[in-house]
Amino acid sequence: MTDTASGVSTTATGPQADRISAEARRRRTFAVISHPDAGKSTLTEALVLHAKAITEAGAIHGKAGRRATVSDWMEMEKARGISITSTALQFPYRTQGGDTCIINLLDTPGHADFSEDTYRVLTAVDAAVMLIDAAKGLEPQTLKLFQVCRHRGIPIITVVNKWDRPGRHALELMDEIHDRIQLQTTPLTWPVGIAGDFKGVLDRRTGTYIRYTRTAGGATAAPEEHIDASRAHEAVGADWDNAVEESELLSADGADFDRDSFLRCTSTPVLFTSAILNFGVNQLLDVLAQLAPSPSGQLDVDGNRREATAPFSAFVFKVQAGMDSAHRDRIAYARVCSGTFERGEVLTHAATGKPFVTKYAQSVFGQQRSTLDTAWPGDVIGLANAAALRPGDTLYRDIPVQYPPIPSFSPEHFAVARGTDPGKHKQFRKGIEQLDQEGVIQVLRSDRRGEQAPVFAAVGPMQFEVASHRMAGEFNAPIALEFLPYTVARVADPADAEILQQQASVEVFTRTDGVVIAVFSTKWRLENVERELPGVRLRSLVAAAD
Ligand code: G4P
Repeated sequence: MTDTASGVSTTATGPQADRISAEARRRRTFAVISHPDAGKSTLTEALVLHAKAITEAGAIHGKAGRRATVSDWMEMEKARGISITSTALQFPYRTQGGDTCIINLLDTPGHADFSEDTYRVLTAVDAAVMLIDAAKGLEPQTLKLFQVCRHRGIPIITVVNKWDRPGRHALELMDEIHDRIQLQTTPLTWPVGIAGDFKGVLDRRTGTYIRYTRTAGGATAAPEEHIDASRAHEAVGADWDNAVEESELLSADGADFDRDSFLRCTSTPVLFTSAILNFGVNQLLDVLAQLAPSPSGQLDVDGNRREATAPFSAFVFKVQAGMDSAHRDRIAYARVCSGTFERGEVLTHAATGKPFVTKYAQSVFGQQRSTLDTAWPGDVIGLANAAALRPGDTLYRDIPVQYPPIPSFSPEHFAVARGTDPGKHKQFRKGIEQLDQEGVIQVLRSDRRGEQAPVFAAVGPMQFEVASHRMAGEFNAPIALEFLPYTVARVADPADAEILQQQASVEVFTRTDGVVIAVFSTKWRLENVERELPGVRLRSLVAAAD
């Protein structure tokens, strides 16, 4: 294929194309989505441990005792022991068949409130692991994240975690997933032993029994033994017979793995794990390697696919500053969509048409960073000191491309931000501008409130804490927040701003990108306004639960 304007081939051919295809084929780029406390950090550790990228669980997410800090870089995260910022981890995994996969695991924030960042990360993955606590089943954040995955057509692998603790019946959990989110479950493993008495799993594809053995504190990979079905009863007794019986029930119910429906996001393979004991983690890595899709190019803003073998292109899904308090740096994370990335190359920044030099490309593994020289489709590049880059921006080489913007989600929390130190006007303005550009919070303004009282709009209240923390610590401009009693936002036509402004419990703002946003106290108030002013057009922003 040739780009008619430039006369340059849009896809590489020959050995280079073969190399790009081969590298793309062995990559698996995914995120783990879950409600807080389901065990996401623990599972991440376990995955990396099993892939032998670290030798002891705890090297990535530092938490009490057993684990040492590597990725909780913001002080707030350390204090709370939660993961607010996202990390991109890359590690090789050698499958049981002997092939080596490259796993790109995009970590998402662990807090239910701090969600906009999570949604941005989901624009950069090819699959998601939906982690469920065996005792709790589907929880609110799991449901929201699942909706985003379905909306974006991201295939989902479900992992039922904490099977070492008393929990619900496995069949009941399958029914819940089926009934509440209309996803056909196709378990690949089935637990042997009820929740709380986890002995191993029945591998439904081979019929064998995989027996797990505990190690001290679960800190090292758990040994597993593959026992032939004919000897399994002898090894484990009635628990094996129950597992076989339930597995047969599942098959009779059409719950066997089907790749097409998995890729269409209408069915989900299911695995059972105990992340803390490292049980079932190998099976998850194998399933990711065998069944999860590899990068296959990306649709551009016009809906045309840029093939993975086309010249280099990537989009920024996240910008993050303040990761290292010693160097007030700023990293833009970009996902490679096509071609090869070579550090030092000059790319084009699609938003401005300006050249972009990639001298400071990094890979980030927890808090450890190393210079990144080459990257392939599916990989994440950390671009340091990239002041010009915003979430959603496209970078390319040779053939222009523009990827669709990342949706900004409908804010549900609003607060006026005021500088508490009158001598810090300049720092205040600079800080607000920076946080806005990074997408830490959305910034709304109105003539009525004035330039000194911008309104922060957030999907989750924790975004306010992050913004306040950074205003004080990084920009030396402490702020006080005055919370506003609004919960719903809509996009309005500029011509309707005045009439909307006159309504009770409604306020009208302009967002930095010029879009007029009307905010309402409640959804009932919004419905009333819509009834009373039928000529006024109000459009939804992308809601987290859409
Ligand atoms: P998150 O990132 O999804 O928020 O969850 P995280 O891994 O931090 O796990 C939340 C809690 O659940 C932790 O306990 C963790 O040890 C525990 N956990 C994770 N996976 C399993 C599992 O498979 N089985 C059992 N029994 N527990 C599990 P904590 O007491 O809050 O913290 P910690 O002191 O153990 O770190």
